[in-house]
Amino acid sequence: MMKVALLGAGRIGQVHAKSITAHDGSRLVAVADAIPEAARKLAGQIGAEVRSIDDILADDEIDAVLIATSTDTHSDLIERATAAGKAVLCEKPVDLSLDRALATLKTAEASGQPVMVGFNRRFDPQFAALKAAYDAGEIGKGELLSITSFDPAPPPIDYIKVSGGLFRDMMIHDFDIACWIFGGPPARVSATGSAMVDPEIGTAGDVDTAAVILQWDDGRICVIKNSRRAGYGYDQRIELLGSEGLLSAKNMLENTVEKITASGASAAKPVYFFLERYMRAYEIEWTAFIDALQSGAAMPVTLREGVAALACAEAATRSAQSGDSVAITPDMLGAE
Ligand SMILES: NC(=O)c1ccc[n+]([C@@H]2O[C@H](COP(=O)([O-])OP(=O)(O)OC[C@H]3O[C@@H](n4cnc5c(N)ncnc54)[C@H](O)[C@@H]3O)[C@@H](O)[C@H]2O)c1
Repeated sequence: MMKVALLGAGRIGQVHAKSITAHDGSRLVAVADAIPEAARKLAGQIGAEVRSIDDILADDEIDAVLIATSTDTHSDLIERATAAGKAVLCEKPVDLSLDRALATLKTAEASGQPVMVGFNRRFDPQFAALKAAYDAGEIGKGELLSITSFDPAPPPIDYIKVSGGLFRDMMIHDFDIACWIFGGPPARVSATGSAMVDPEIGTAGDVDTAAVILQWDDGRICVIKNSRRAGYGYDQRIELLGSEGLLSAKNMLENTVEKITASGASAAKPVYFFLERYMRAYEIEWTAFIDALQSGAAMPVTLREGVAALACAEAATRSAQSGDSVAITPDMLGAE
């Protein structure tokens, strides 16, 4: 039984608390949060203790920590937790700064402790089935990947201001999916973005509508489209064209009833947001982390892969600002 502590009792921390508690192989023993009331409330619901991060990291009985605090704390906490001998599952992105994340990669790899990054979408049963079919050669060689990722509504402007921008905060998931499906990072990134949804997002220096093209040296291409607003719900689709066919993962709908009448056809809209769409993925993600710890296998999403997604985000941010495509160089991926 793995003894686990949760750092961060906010939106996503509460989701992870459920997965840790529901799993036979893990027990959530402690919760820490900078807001004492947030920690107290969550710890009370699951019967865990409220403890400080220092206290948790000093406790030899705690095997693993799940880092679900704000992004600007991730690097620091990964370094402290691995130095204290803990296994780590850290939420995305690894950091707001690629340089800082690269330093953390070095320190964490030197510690020898396992670190997984929380790219939950890899564990979504729809996307995992698409990837398995592609890896089994069912559509031949992948040529053109297309990822659509639209949120139903933008987060509060205060979140936007500390998020690191759409490419690091939101599209980071899609960069990871692209690198995962195509087996490694692209060679070049071209990006464009604008503030179409809320002018305040533009005033805060961010974009809410963006399109990115990733290119691999052998000619493979991925197109990613993001928007902070789709009035009909959470739009999450992947389409992969290969030399011998097409794979597509469609939206999960609120129900499967279709209506056809003389005036036309209609179906239910997509489920509302990430909690509805990816709840199963978070559970499977946690199981994958525990399985890897128990078997000693490599982490299913490595810190190095987390850095690769951040390198794409950094390149996209620079490309959107300059209008030029930006190369992903080996130093951006932590090559010695
Ligand atoms: N994988 C996903 O689907 C997904 C979804 C949402 C958020 N996230 C990521 O999870 C992280 C948290 O996002 P959220 O939406 O839950 O935010 P949130 O603001 O709801 O929760 C963050 C919590 O961390 C606490 N915190 C911040 N700094 C701390 C510190 N130094 N020590 C202790 N506690 C601290 C805050 O008090 C807050 O309760 C972000 O990095 C975000 O990118 C991932």
